[in-house]
This record gives sequence, C-alpha cells and structure tokens, in this order.
Amino acid sequence: MDSIAILDFGSQYAQIIARRVREVQIYCELFAWDAPQEKILSIQPKGFILSGGPRSVYEEGAPYIQDFILKSNLPILGICYGMQALTYALGGQVDPSAHREYGPAEIQPLIPGTMLDAISKVWMSHGDRITRMPEGFIALAKSGNSPLAAIGNFQRKYFGVQFHPEVHHTPNGAELLKHFAIDICEAKPEWTPASIIEESVARIREQVGNERVLAAVSGGVDSSVASALVHKAIGDQLVAVFVDTGLLRKDEGAQVTAAFREHLGAELIAVDASEEFISALQGETDPEKKRKIVGEKFIRVFEVQAKKLEQPHFLVQGTIYPDVVESSAPDRNKAEKIKTHHNVGGLPKDMQFELVEPLRYLFKDEVRAVGEALGLPEVLVWRQPFPGPGLTVRCLGEVTRERLSRLRAADAILIEELSKAGFLGKGAQTSQAFVVLLPVRSVGVMGDYRTYQEAAAIRAVTTEDFMTADWARLPHDLLAQVANRIVNEVDGINRVVYDITSKPPATIEWE
Ligand code: XMP
Repeated sequence: MDSIAILDFGSQYAQIIARRVREVQIYCELFAWDAPQEKILSIQPKGFILSGGPRSVYEEGAPYIQDFILKSNLPILGICYGMQALTYALGGQVDPSAHREYGPAEIQPLIPGTMLDAISKVWMSHGDRITRMPEGFIALAKSGNSPLAAIGNFQRKYFGVQFHPEVHHTPNGAELLKHFAIDICEAKPEWTPASIIEESVARIREQVGNERVLAAVSGGVDSSVASALVHKAIGDQLVAVFVDTGLLRKDEGAQVTAAFREHLGAELIAVDASEEFISALQGETDPEKKRKIVGEKFIRVFEVQAKKLEQPHFLVQGTIYPDVVESSAPDRNKAEKIKTHHNVGGLPKDMQFELVEPLRYLFKDEVRAVGEALGLPEVLVWRQPFPGPGLTVRCLGEVTRERLSRLRAADAILIEELSKAGFLGKGAQTSQAFVVLLPVRSVGVMGDYRTYQEAAAIRAVTTEDFMTADWARLPHDLLAQVANRIVNEVDGINRVVYDITSKPPATIEWE
C-alpha cells in the first residue's frame, strides 16, 4: 500500500499531521527524525513530510535531515522547522526573526496553481525564518512577517511552508497535505476500513497460526474492535474474557456482554473479579499505585483464565497508535507519559503472553470506522473512552464499594442527561463526560438537616485527539439539572462542581 513517512522533529503537532494524511486515506507512519534508515524505508514511502520542532537548525545537536532521505529523490514537504532543516541542508540560509511569530497570520500565494491556492489564513509558530532559499527554489507565498512563507523546487518536488497546515487554525490546511500526498507524491488513497480489515486479518493469521488466542474485552471501543478483528481472522480460536473489575460504569457489564455475544457470536467468558480488585485497592490513595494495582491484577486474572484454557500463547490488546507514539517518544508529550497507561509499558515483566495488537497503527477515528465496518453496534463503537484502570481513577482517595456505587450512580445521571440533550454519542460535540468523586466533605443543608457529605465534580471535554482538550461549554440549565438530580438522588453527595480547566495544564482524568 502506498504510504508517506512523517519525520518528527519534536513537534507537538506530529500526530495531527499523521491524522490529516490518514484522513485522505493514505497510510503514513511517524518516525523520530533520527530513526534508522531501514525502519523508515521499510514502509516504502512515496514521500516525506518533515514536522515542525522547537529547536533552531544552528543549535548544537539540532535535529537534521538524514542523508538517505535527500538521496532517495522522493518528494519532501517541510513544515516550519522541517522547512528550515530542508533549507539548511540544501545550502540556504536560516536566521532568527526580529520577532517570534506566533498565532494567526495571512498569506498571499505568489503564483497560481500550487498547493497553496486554497489557503489564506494560517497558523504560525516560529522564531527563525528563511532568509535565503536554496538553489532551485522559488517563493510560493508571503505573509506580513515572512517574505518566504512557502517555498518550492518543482523539479525536485521539495516544498516548505513556514506555517502549520495540519492544525485547525489553518482552514483548508488539510487540502495542502492532501495535494502533497496525492498529487505530488502520487500516493493512491487505498487506506480504507475495508483494506485495513483485510490487511489486519492477514497479519493476525500469520502471527498466530493455529494457536488459541485470549482477548481481554473491557467494553471500551478499542478492546472490542481489536477482538472483533481477531475473531474475523481466526473465529473460534479466539476466547474473549470479560472481567468485571467492579470498577465499571453502571450496567456496563451487562451491555457489553450482550452486545459482544449478539454481534460477534464469539465465545465470551465473564469473570466476576470485583472482590479481588477492590480488596487489592483497599487503603491505597496514591494515584500511581492505584493504577499499577489494577494493571497488575488485570494480567493476573487473565493468567488464571489462561491456565484454565491450557495457556494460550497469545493475548489481544487494544493498543492504538497514539499509545504507541506517546510511549516511545523520547522528549515529546512528556505530559502524556506522566500517567501510567496500563495498556502500554505498564505490563508486569513476567507476563507470559505474546501480544496481538491489531490496532497498533490506527487512530481512534479509524478504529471506529473499522468497528462499524465489522458490524459492531453503535453503543459499542461510539462509546466514550473509558480508562483501563476504570473508575479507580475517578474515585479519588480510597476506593471502596460504597464510594464506587455513589460514583456510579452520579455518573449514570450525568450520562443520561447529556445523552438526552444530544451532548454525547455519535457526532456529538462533547467527546468525554464523567463524574469524579472527591475525597472532600463539605457542609450542606437538606430540609431541616445539616449534612456533611462528599463532593462530586463533573468533567466534560471537547477534544479531537485527547492530547489537548477544552472543557465543554455545556448549557447552564443542563448542568443545573444534572447537579440537582445528583444531590437529590445519590446518597452521600451534597455538592457538585464543574471542572473548567483545559488540558494542558490539567489532564482529562483527575488521576
Ligand atoms: P488524560 O487523563 O491523560 O486522558 O488526559 C486522556 C485520555 O485517555 C484516557 N485514559 C486512559 N485510557 N488507560 C486507558 O486506556 C489509562 O490508564 C488511561 N488514563 C486515561 C482518558 O479517559 C482520556 O480519554
């Protein structure tokens, strides 16, 4: 399949570039700028996109374009730092600008008929700028601050843009990336749900042969789609296990088991391990330790199941591409690594399974498209994300049965009200919404009684990629309705607050 290699020079937007390219149905992969040649060329790219980055090309140790890339004679699009690195590598001049340019700007295309035709408003974020183009290049666009806002060498098919076409603040920027991938690199748009399924099925069959495979179904989109893919590939060789950790949302267990059995027709073993999880968590209040406990328990429970099933060699995991990128990026997205995401990196070292990870190269929207194409029901495919460690990360302080059921009841009210008002589900603006139970008690008054009970926080965010997020501007009346119902219907909560921090600096979950 035709593909594009994206080289990451340390940009916070590198993943977004990859998503934009995938959105036009072209396979691409992200590589660190200094990844080995064999690794990058193994996908047989039809061209390269060089991301932005925080450095200056003249700094000591600054990332550069590896020689084999220039020698490949393949098209290159440099974005921001990528453009400067390209200029520098080809003998042009890059200098610090008088002012750092950050924010919206307007560009004027200088010659008609290029990939810049559709673009006027752009997003800039740079300190250096090009002061002399390399030989063979011409200026393609200028902005108030940058006489060389875009440059190109049509013969070599090398292009550079000073702005960020990948971000939303550059309307039509996706058109530029599409033009580069399809018209300049001549990549064929073949990356469709059908082709993803076909390729995954072949890969899974090759990996597992006739062995039995165990799948951990959590009810989340990722583990469901991963299992569905594996089931399509190997049918009854798959044994899916659904663990009730006691840390699930209201009715989640029943919904998932029903949907899974009906729509996949796969064998599904439901294990009630709630007692084990909750007693393992007893007395623990440290967020990182709570996550670790749950992550470990998960694997242990599967090991027990595995023994019962004569130890299948393989375990399906719903790891998706952003997990992989975030866990392997050395400097980028440090914030993303602050929490232990138990599905990657957090597995106990002595785990005895070889992993099958059919979604390892997919973004969330691709996972959903594949899920739909596999015929999974909307209630599974459009479920909001739910963290692996479950309600433990939303039950701040000690996790007890009583507090969990309080949290579950409050959360169910929020979900019900938001879904009814059209703020959750397929196509809805709000990407994720949940209640967090705080280990804080405050005074209230109910009827003639003084109360001293726990507080709950509502968290609702809008986001495209869950790496950054904004708090959802939910209507006040809707929030009032939710708060009223929680305080009236849930024992033990007498106060509700709304979380109005974005990510960063906060994260989406509270732990
Ligand atoms: P944060 O809190 O890091 O969350 O802003 C970003 C997204 O990831 C989900 N999340 C997790 N998912 N295992 C998961 O599979 C985890 O440990 C985990 N922690 C957070 C979170 O719900 C949000 O969608």
